[in-house]
Amino acid sequence: MTKKRDDTAAELAGLESPVLGPTGRPLREFKVPPKLKGHGPARIIALCNQKGGVGKTTTTINLGAALAEYGRRVLCVDFDPQGALSAGLAVPTHDVPNIYDLLVGTVKEPADAIQHTATTNLDVIPANIDLSAAEVHLVNEVAREQILARVLRKVANDYDVILIDCQPSLGILTVNALTASHGVLIPLECEYFALRGVALLVETIDKVRDRLNPALELDGILATMYDSRTLHSREVLERVVETFGDKVFETVIARTVKFPDASVAAAPITEFAPDHQAAASYRQLARELITRGAVA
Ligand SMILES: Nc1ncnc2c1ncn2[C@@H]1O[C@H](COP(=O)(O)OP(=O)(O)O)[C@@H](O)[C@H]1O
Ligand SMILES: [Mg+2]
Repeated sequence: MTKKRDDTAAELAGLESPVLGPTGRPLREFKVPPKLKGHGPARIIALCNQKGGVGKTTTTINLGAALAEYGRRVLCVDFDPQGALSAGLAVPTHDVPNIYDLLVGTVKEPADAIQHTATTNLDVIPANIDLSAAEVHLVNEVAREQILARVLRKVANDYDVILIDCQPSLGILTVNALTASHGVLIPLECEYFALRGVALLVETIDKVRDRLNPALELDGILATMYDSRTLHSREVLERVVETFGDKVFETVIARTVKFPDASVAAAPITEFAPDHQAAASYRQLARELITRGAVA
C-alpha cells in the first residue's frame, strides 16, 4: 500500500490525499452484497490464459468459494484434462460422469455430472485426462465450437454464476469456453513476460466475439502472485495497468505459500485459512465483480 506523495500542497492545506492501492488507484471498499432473492440464470465466465501457472485454477476455486460464501450458487467447470480444479475441490474424477462425457454425448444431462463440494453453494463438473481426446473428437462435429454452450444452457437456471477453468491453450476447448461465456477473466502473473502472449489471447477473444459470440465481454484482468516487496512485481503491475487501464481489477492477489498449501489440503483458501489476507483478497474480488455488475 503506497500513499501518493506528490500532492504536498493538498496535504499542507490539511486535505487527506487518497491512499492508493497496488494498481495506483484509490483504495476502495467494495460493499458486502445483499443476499439474492432468487437464483439464476447464471452469468458464465471463462478464466483464460494460454500460459500455464498463472492462477486460473486457483482463481476459479477461490473466487467460486468466495461467491458461494456470499450466497451465490456457483458451478465450476473443470475444462482442463489435468483435472487440477477437481482435485483442488476434492471431487472424484474417475468412474464418474465428467465434462468429456457431456461434450461427446455419452452422458446427456449435465445434472448427472455435477458433484457437490464440501462448500455450500459450490458445485463442480469434473474433468480428467479423457478430455485431452476431445480436441480430436470435436474436429468433425457440426457446430463444434458451440458444444459446451449447449451443455451449460441446460443447467444455467440453477446457478448464479458458472466459472470455466480453461486449459493453457487456445485450441478448440478454449474456443468452446469463450463461445459459452458472457465474460472472460484473464489472470496475469506479476512476472516479466506476463504480457507476452496476451495480445494473441485478446485477438482470439475478438475473433470469437466477431464470429461466434457477439455478447462476449472482457470482464477484467486479475494480477496474481504479486509481491509488493519486489521492484519487478511492482513494475509489471504498472505495465499491466498502462496497457489495460480500468480493465485491471483493483483487487490484486499477493503471492503466498497459503495457496499451494490449500491445494494440498484440497480446500478453498476461504476455508483452509479463512482469516488470512489471501482469503480476504478473493472475497474482495468477489465483491468487486458484483459491484462491477459482472455477477448478480
Ligand atoms: N497467489 C499465489 N501465490 C502463490 N502461489 C500461487 C498463487 N496462485 C497460484 N499459486 C500456485 O501456483 C501454481 C499454479 O497455479 P494455478 O492456479 O494452478 O495456475 P493455472 O491454472 O493458470 O495453471 C499452483 O501450484 C498454485 O498453488
Ligand atoms: Mg489450471
